[in-house]
Amino acid sequence: MLPRREFVRTSLLAAGAAACASRTRFSAASQAASADSRIEVLLDEPLGTISPNIYGHFTEHLGGVVYDGMWVGENSPVANVQGIRKRLVDEMRKIKAPVVRYPGGCFADSYNWRDGVGPPDKRPRRTNFWNDAEKESAPDNHKFEPNRFGTNEFIRFCKLIGAEPYLAANLRSLPAEEFYHWVEYCNSPAGSTTLADLRAAAGSPEPFNVRFWGVGNESWGCGGNFTAQEYAVEYRRFVTWLPHYGKGQDLFLVASGPYTEETSWTRGFFEELLRKGADQLRSVQGLSLHHYAWNLSRGRTTDWEKGKGSALEFEPMDWYELLREGQRIEGIMENHWRALGEYDGQRRIKLIVDEWGPWYRPGSELTPGNLLEQIPTLRDAVFSAMTLDIFNRHPDKVAMANCAQLINCLNSLYLAHEDKFCVTPVGHVFAMYAAHQGGQSLRTIFSAPPVRYDRDGKPASFWGLQGSASLRGKELQLTVVNPHVSEARETSILLRGARIASGSATILTNADLHTHNTFAQPAALEPQTKPLSLTSAAPTFVFPPASVTRLTLMLA
Ligand code: AHR
Repeated sequence: MLPRREFVRTSLLAAGAAACASRTRFSAASQAASADSRIEVLLDEPLGTISPNIYGHFTEHLGGVVYDGMWVGENSPVANVQGIRKRLVDEMRKIKAPVVRYPGGCFADSYNWRDGVGPPDKRPRRTNFWNDAEKESAPDNHKFEPNRFGTNEFIRFCKLIGAEPYLAANLRSLPAEEFYHWVEYCNSPAGSTTLADLRAAAGSPEPFNVRFWGVGNESWGCGGNFTAQEYAVEYRRFVTWLPHYGKGQDLFLVASGPYTEETSWTRGFFEELLRKGADQLRSVQGLSLHHYAWNLSRGRTTDWEKGKGSALEFEPMDWYELLREGQRIEGIMENHWRALGEYDGQRRIKLIVDEWGPWYRPGSELTPGNLLEQIPTLRDAVFSAMTLDIFNRHPDKVAMANCAQLINCLNSLYLAHEDKFCVTPVGHVFAMYAAHQGGQSLRTIFSAPPVRYDRDGKPASFWGLQGSASLRGKELQLTVVNPHVSEARETSILLRGARIASGSATILTNADLHTHNTFAQPAALEPQTKPLSLTSAAPTFVFPPASVTRLTLMLA
């Protein structure tokens, strides 16, 4: 055990200060550092291993996600690997994408997996779940699902990027039999079943071994409009029998869960499920939880359309409002975790945050007409870093999270159209934070003056610095968000019982809060990495305003 009070103070000043100096829009006054912030990493207080799956993704047959985003086709002039956009594959390998959820979302509960397998030219065309929301001018394959991309193509995508698949089964509009047939199609051994033969005929004799299965999606809404009790009855029926193929092939089943702090769905579901006996608990491995930060009206309305803000046009007050809405996810997780504990005393069931991110009103599509596409800015990078830090701080509770969505939709990591492609600021955050995957999360205390600002004429505040730390061997990752739109934070970094041998700082920031990448300017916002000057006398790092920073510290 490391001695509790052996603090090592190390100079980290130079890199952060350089990042501040490179900001052009903020004046000298706004860059004045307040030297009263402190981060203390408690190396002797591990919180648990950070599941790599916290860094997961979500892809739905929605707008330009699949057709154009992921799938361009084998004969496309766009560089591709067996029909899948090559640039996307290359980028996702870089960020160590661990898991991808598919095919929805709401789409999942209107999807018949059989439509997407077998010879491509024989696959049926169907009306897409999102057809009603699509504009007349949208591409046909966004309105009418051609099923050119189905299970095999999705698994191919996962294999190419080295990720595990997470499939969402249709509970609203297919019988339970179709769920277990989909499991059989994916997992039955080569040559064992008719469905295994169908899979082999499509070029995949070996099973896909899909472990993660969602049992419906948002079953309180688009997934069936069930009450929690009704859903629990359906859930029991759907999972009472599913095919298993040998040891180590256990399925991880995710029940559709809540989307607010309120716990009646979670309680209603488990109470009904357990009415049939305590052993029913073994049929659930994960409880899904969704959180979108969409209401930027500052309490004026709860209307789903009217409450939304603009992705690109915003004031500092809107910046903070988005972060406040995003921060709510921590309370949502804690509430449902507590409620879950009343039924699962052994804490076997984990939270699966399989949709999260900001959701703005239409109007900022980089490819006009792409449904739910929005252009992520520096604000969304800060939001995403804040969210990933929250997951890192709760490794005991969250087993998986899936950012909504991967490409051309909501909080995209990438935007693509035909041969054009760019990495968004959110994509850069995922690249920076990949270093936490599989690390040991460490309790870390952040002390900084809160941000104080005017919220519609009333004083409001938000935390001053937050982040997370993880350790793998001798490598410590400390990620930090400074949400203040104009003030840097000069911060002492204290490590209990360790000495820093070397380090580097990677910083994502810009003087303009609205900075974003486009096809024309794909590198408007990119992280900068610099070595740290480790002169032991100066124990501080300056976190620039509106920034995401990763400090990588090699311990001696
Ligand atoms: O991500 C877009 C949609 O948001 C999903 O289809 C649905 O699950 C959620 O309401």
